[in-house]
Amino acid sequence: MYRSHTCGELRESHIGIDVTLSGWVHKTRDKGFVVWVDIRDRYGITQLVFDEDRTATSLLETARGLGREFVIQVMGTVIERASKNNNIPTGSIEVLVKELTVLNKSKTPPFTIENETDGGEDLRMKYRYLDIRRNPVKNNLIFRSKVTMEVRKFLSDQGFIEVETPYLIKSTPEGARDFVVPSRMNEGQFYALPQSPQTFKQLLMVGGMDKYFQIVKCFRDEDLRADRQPEFTQIDCEMAFVEQEDILDVFEGLTKYLLKEIKGISVDKFPRMTFDDAMAKYGNDKPDIRFGMEFGELNEVAQHKDFNVFNAAELVVGIAVPGAAEYTRKELDALVNWVKRPQVGALGMVYVKCNPDGTFKSTVDKFYSEEDLANWAKKTGAKPGDLICVLSGETNKTRTQLSALRMEMAQRLGLRNPEVFAPLWVVDFPLLELDEETGHYHAMHHPFTSPKPGQLELLDTDPAAVRANAYDLVLNGNEIGGGSIRIHDAETQAIMFKHLGFTPEEAKAQFGFLMDAFQYGAPPHGGIAFGLDRLVSILGGQETIRDFIAFPKNNSGRDVMIDAPAPIDDEQLKELNLKLDIPSK
Ligand code: AMO
Repeated sequence: MYRSHTCGELRESHIGIDVTLSGWVHKTRDKGFVVWVDIRDRYGITQLVFDEDRTATSLLETARGLGREFVIQVMGTVIERASKNNNIPTGSIEVLVKELTVLNKSKTPPFTIENETDGGEDLRMKYRYLDIRRNPVKNNLIFRSKVTMEVRKFLSDQGFIEVETPYLIKSTPEGARDFVVPSRMNEGQFYALPQSPQTFKQLLMVGGMDKYFQIVKCFRDEDLRADRQPEFTQIDCEMAFVEQEDILDVFEGLTKYLLKEIKGISVDKFPRMTFDDAMAKYGNDKPDIRFGMEFGELNEVAQHKDFNVFNAAELVVGIAVPGAAEYTRKELDALVNWVKRPQVGALGMVYVKCNPDGTFKSTVDKFYSEEDLANWAKKTGAKPGDLICVLSGETNKTRTQLSALRMEMAQRLGLRNPEVFAPLWVVDFPLLELDEETGHYHAMHHPFTSPKPGQLELLDTDPAAVRANAYDLVLNGNEIGGGSIRIHDAETQAIMFKHLGFTPEEAKAQFGFLMDAFQYGAPPHGGIAFGLDRLVSILGGQETIRDFIAFPKNNSGRDVMIDAPAPIDDEQLKELNLKLDIPSK
């Protein structure tokens, strides 16, 4: 038996008993006549003691030879500690060791296995298995497991069936590029890894499975960010015989359940906001509503004066930053430069200090009276002491820029409290989105999303105006889930494909299986998928999903630990009938 107890288990009540522990050497302290060794496992740390009076000399010598991260097994007696450590649960006891076995040696780890480590990101990723021994990473993985268990519990209690769908499939259009896998047995042909199980879950509805879920890996070849990985996990769900309201109800229920079980927080009915409102008020389809700073549109009160920049703009829009009127000239210049950075892209920024005495001081005093500026304050909700920041230009771009500034200011002012949870449904998304580069429309969600009832005809006359039965669940400024009610008849689906620029032949080649299925009694259906990594990290109070993934990829999509992707040898290429034009490294 390797262990009778874990390293986090022993308390004063165990004093006097003999125990066997196994774990890693966390730290050793050699005071000459006494050696202390901290032994660590997943559950905690226990102090071991060896001393000249009570320990055999050879054993004391072995203890002295232990290096960091050696794997050891000890047998000994639990005794009371002379000087207690109230910071750890096992701090009242120690184990007086009688037997010590070195199960395995360890090289000195490249960084310290402590909560605060000296290891940089790259090093920690290369030795991720050592990083996982550290509490912050270990606890995140345990937290993730707990959330996943609760999700499974909730959904199966609601009658959902977990069904696995294949990974070697054909392209599913979710807006990213596919990862492809060459087929050895089918020369010159490729599988695509699923960007989501979208078509399969719809086929399960045709198959009568009625309430499906799957905690499933999805693969998307897209640029990476803090909240994006090339392979990530979805809680993928679909239901038959449902309307939008039914889906929102079930998955609001799931989210509330998780907030309660995991965080102990009760949340009332989630607010809902249309896509158009979200864009107008927050410049963003995933607004963080934990704080105000809503947009105030200023066209009416800022145009038709002598300030040509605003007169020429499609939109003039501002936010009131609380308490920022006291910013120094230097701080304000820095803020203007911040919005002018290429990542934000504004050409400039006008600001108005709302002085505590009720007067105003702006960068455009030449053009605007106190009364004008008072109107700006009214529109943005600015109070004395606030700073109004105003951007102008083309509507969508300007909104995006001001949204970036709003989030930045909230961050700086500490308004994004990770312990506050503000979920929100964003509904009534446009069905289509114009691709500025190609001038073509593509599906904003995916091509299987149904238009709002009665809006199908609008597709011919005003495609941009068509709204979809599509919804996103937003939590603290992050899109954690998205879904829609689907098209369930072949005819409507064919019309959609046509508007998305597919010829009937292309549609048949890519999605013939779905169109066929729709001819065999497809029930009305809809669903949603949550990003599990995002959900877990936000519940865990963070926004970087990498910290909640055991073996994540870096920003270039590489796994630096196993060194993937990597070239394959010529033999393998030949077997797959692949020829590379680029010389392999
Ligand atoms: P969507 O594309 O919105 O919908 O994806 C659902 C959710 O998955 C998460 N997500 C990601 N998480 C980490 N890294 C990524 N690269 C990544 N991409 C997406 C987000 C997102 O809200 N089939 C549809 C769902 C449906 O219609 O039912 C779909 O995949 O949290």
